[in-house]
Amino acid sequence: MQSAKFYVTTPIYYVNAKPHIGHAYTTILADVLARYHRLMGVPSFFLTGTDEHGQKVSQAAEKAGMTPQQQADGTVVRFQDAWKKFEITNDDFIRTTEPRHKTVVQAILQDLFDKDEIYRADYDGWYCVTCERFFTEKDLIDGKCPEPGCGRDVEKIRESNYFFRMSKYQDWLMQYIQDNPKFIQPDFRRNETLGFLKKKLNDLCISRPKSRMSWGIELPFDKAFVTYVWFDALLNYITAIGYLSDEAKFRKWWPASCQLIGKDILTTHTVYWPTMLKAMNLPLPETVFAHGWWLSGREKMSKTLGNVVNPMEYADKYGVDAFRYFLMAEMSLGQDADFTEDVFLRRYNTDLANDLGNLLSRVMKLIGSYCDGLVPSVGSLGQDEEFLKKVALAAVEKMADAVARMRIDIGLAEVATVVRETNRYLEKTQPWTLGKKGEKEQLGTVMYFSVEVLRIVSGLLYPVMPTQMIVLRKALGLSESQPDFSSLKTWGVIKPGAPIGQMINLFPRIAPAAQDDKERKGSAMTEVPVLAKTQNVPEQKQPIAAPAGVAQIEYTDFTKVQLCTAVIESAEKVEGADKLLRLQIKIGDEARQIVAGIALHYKPEELPGKRIVVVANLKPAKIRGVESNGMLLAASSGGVMKLITVDGELPSGAVVK
Ligand code: MSP
Repeated sequence: MQSAKFYVTTPIYYVNAKPHIGHAYTTILADVLARYHRLMGVPSFFLTGTDEHGQKVSQAAEKAGMTPQQQADGTVVRFQDAWKKFEITNDDFIRTTEPRHKTVVQAILQDLFDKDEIYRADYDGWYCVTCERFFTEKDLIDGKCPEPGCGRDVEKIRESNYFFRMSKYQDWLMQYIQDNPKFIQPDFRRNETLGFLKKKLNDLCISRPKSRMSWGIELPFDKAFVTYVWFDALLNYITAIGYLSDEAKFRKWWPASCQLIGKDILTTHTVYWPTMLKAMNLPLPETVFAHGWWLSGREKMSKTLGNVVNPMEYADKYGVDAFRYFLMAEMSLGQDADFTEDVFLRRYNTDLANDLGNLLSRVMKLIGSYCDGLVPSVGSLGQDEEFLKKVALAAVEKMADAVARMRIDIGLAEVATVVRETNRYLEKTQPWTLGKKGEKEQLGTVMYFSVEVLRIVSGLLYPVMPTQMIVLRKALGLSESQPDFSSLKTWGVIKPGAPIGQMINLFPRIAPAAQDDKERKGSAMTEVPVLAKTQNVPEQKQPIAAPAGVAQIEYTDFTKVQLCTAVIESAEKVEGADKLLRLQIKIGDEARQIVAGIALHYKPEELPGKRIVVVANLKPAKIRGVESNGMLLAASSGGVMKLITVDGELPSGAVVK
């Protein structure tokens, strides 16, 4: 990706389709890339649009009793509205029925015809209506369309048509792809195209006789034909930025830095498109990046299976930002990814509600309670502070690198690590205890470092979650406008004394209790997916036996117990009871006292900082006159007792399931 400018494109979507998860994903990805580049001060241009000619639109129009143009005018709005809703910041939206596109396509066709790059010939072949592509007999698989994922019946067609001399560029293209490894990304897709090019390349049929299909751009040199929809559509990437109409603009943006596509349209973009550009004597895009597909429950989404994810529904239910974050964090670019509500909620609750949301509310609450709502000044620094600062600043570099490599998922994972490290820092330094004890200087350091991390994190996440990160930044007392990258690389931007805003809950946890019963029964909605599956156990013919003497319980019995992670803040002996310890614990932000029978196994001083598991919804009780509000879990065997702890780092308050 070159750094002087950034021009990113999405495929133009068939206008008659309803925006689905695939459209939303590519467009959000392009938006995120454009926003990161703008943040880094790189002039950027982001293009998307709609593909409005061809058989699909013409058939849909016929069915609806409209002209194809009326049909397109009616349905294009769905895309435009969707992109508005998803906070897409495209610089242009091209429709292939616009005069600015049609006239330039005709000029290109005329030019190529004049240069003998296009010729007329009789054609005899097989045509797939859905893919709008011709195939030779030997291309077909079992007599059906060979396109991946298609396999539909093909029609035998015999007619006179116009052809683009694509075959003559075969050797050049192979060489170009080998010499420019960045041109097709990821690498395995490059190999796929090179594999395709091992077979002899045919010339490309670029016309359709009007007698068969009239909805398209008329060939300027033969009015009995319109141009093939793909030939027309691919040219949008240059017509929109001024090719043959605004040379200065065109020169500014072309070649594209990154053309995003789904893996199913690799051939059109890495064989047709580069040869067309070569014939026009234009440079090729720096990178064509083919991403994987979103699957649902590991299966292809299809209306028949009823597993199609509606992006609008998710955005309405969980917020646009959370939806954008999920798509970016979950798909490892290039690979397929699975989209189910379970997967969505798991990531939402972990990364956003528990980690980020928890960090923010802890920091705001502590500053509100102990620092008069003002960012405190820094006292003396130790290794923990140096470490935290290093991790946060390194994440900025790592994100820049991830963006350049198109690995937003990796960049986001780095940010998630910073957030987790900061929560860990709070647990280690115990600012709530510092506050209570009045240790202002040390508390100030901890709070200042946490606020600075939040500032950097909010900047790094801004391109993915623009609305919520602005809210977060405002809460930190930062300006409303978008952050700039150089300030993210600098430590110490927030000035002590700056006021912190009102407490906010950016990403409320979506707990099972918040869902109604009907939803909880459906696999998709529950927050406890693993257990939700075991809910089906009673349906099994042979239930798994419980340990002897212990009655089996229903899943619903288990759900009555709310298990959470907690952190021990302090411990002391209960007078007159040699087995009992009185523990002060924190479940998330909530302080509790519990009494535990572990005094013979743990000394009070061993316990602060330990992360344990507690039953959080046990009715309060008095044990030896001391109030106990919950119960910790421990296991014992052969006279040894050990606390149940969590394998790995999780903030306190995480639900154990
Ligand atoms: N009109 C052509 C593109 C012309 S570009 C010059 C087209 N349109 S489309 O609307 O059918 O598809 C647009 C994109 O959606 C493709 O990149 C395709 O890969 C993508 N997706 C469709 N379903 C998808 C998923 N389930 N997951 C991810 N992307 C998928 O093709």
